[in-house]
Amino acid sequence: MFTTTLPRQSLTGDLFMAINELKRELNAVILAHYYQDPDIQDIADYLGDSLGLSQQAATTDAEVIVFAGVHFMAETAKILNPDKLVLLPDLNAGCSLADSCPPEAFATFKAKHPDHLVVSYINCSAEIKAMSDIICTSSNAVKIIRQIPEEQPIIFAPDRNLGRYVMEQTGRNLVLWQGSCIVHETFCEKSLVQLQIQHPEAEIIAHPECEPSVLRHANYIGSTTALLKYSQQSSKSAFIVATEPGIIHQMEKRAPQKRFIPAPGLNNCACNECPYMRLNTLEKVYLAMKNREPEITLSPKLIAAARGPIQRMLELS
Ligand code: 13P
Ligand code: SF4
Repeated sequence: MFTTTLPRQSLTGDLFMAINELKRELNAVILAHYYQDPDIQDIADYLGDSLGLSQQAATTDAEVIVFAGVHFMAETAKILNPDKLVLLPDLNAGCSLADSCPPEAFATFKAKHPDHLVVSYINCSAEIKAMSDIICTSSNAVKIIRQIPEEQPIIFAPDRNLGRYVMEQTGRNLVLWQGSCIVHETFCEKSLVQLQIQHPEAEIIAHPECEPSVLRHANYIGSTTALLKYSQQSSKSAFIVATEPGIIHQMEKRAPQKRFIPAPGLNNCACNECPYMRLNTLEKVYLAMKNREPEITLSPKLIAAARGPIQRMLELS
């Protein structure tokens, strides 16, 4: 048991013990994204980007998956494991990008391009996955598009920024759904340039969900895992990080001698923190495991329709 009168450090220690105990009891695995709070990252069995997390979900032999991430990530784990209990500590942990692509509107859009193959970024609902041919993530989008024959027209949904970046990298013309992420769209070019002038020793590293005005200043662009690896391997000692700042916890852990500066939002706001990812807390992870809820549930029909496109991605990665 834990009590709120304890200082945070010992409360966290108690929660870690209680969660580890529940992990054994339930035969559970905790999968966490880099944007989660540091405490959650530290208790996770596996920490990764969207691709790594799907690969882990596809191969785990645990009976219960506790997904410390957002709804579309936990949904993907459920689609890959229909018979397992998949817990999401806070069911309101959604995603603005997934919300920017409502299924009905997307069905109409798709109908206007009947000869197009649909490649969807994993940051979308199960319904959009079911309407897609192949799913991709930020770490394999370029690789997957390159494997599609040149003459095949393609719809890319829902992120227009990742779509534009993939078009640049591959030279392909993609029909883009105009969705975006509220977090990655808040980075401000003017403040970024000012910050770089203050830290000329720092390299700018950015996630491809950022707008082109930010990406054009980046020394390196990649998924969260790619940014983490790059910051470890680069000879530079400082980095301006243009993605959700949760990842800085891992960057600092893996390269403690280096300096990581979060890229600024508009008027230096703190809006670069993903409000959905941050809904999960260590306390909610504990409660979800204790109560075996909130659980992700999807109809067998939707699972069957969404599974093929995800599996195609895993094969092509
Ligand atoms: P990654 O594929 O890099 O994990 O990105 C997930 C995400 O939600 C970025 O906003
Ligand atoms: Fe969605 Fe953006 Fe949050 Fe990623 S950072 S989960 S894309 S809202």
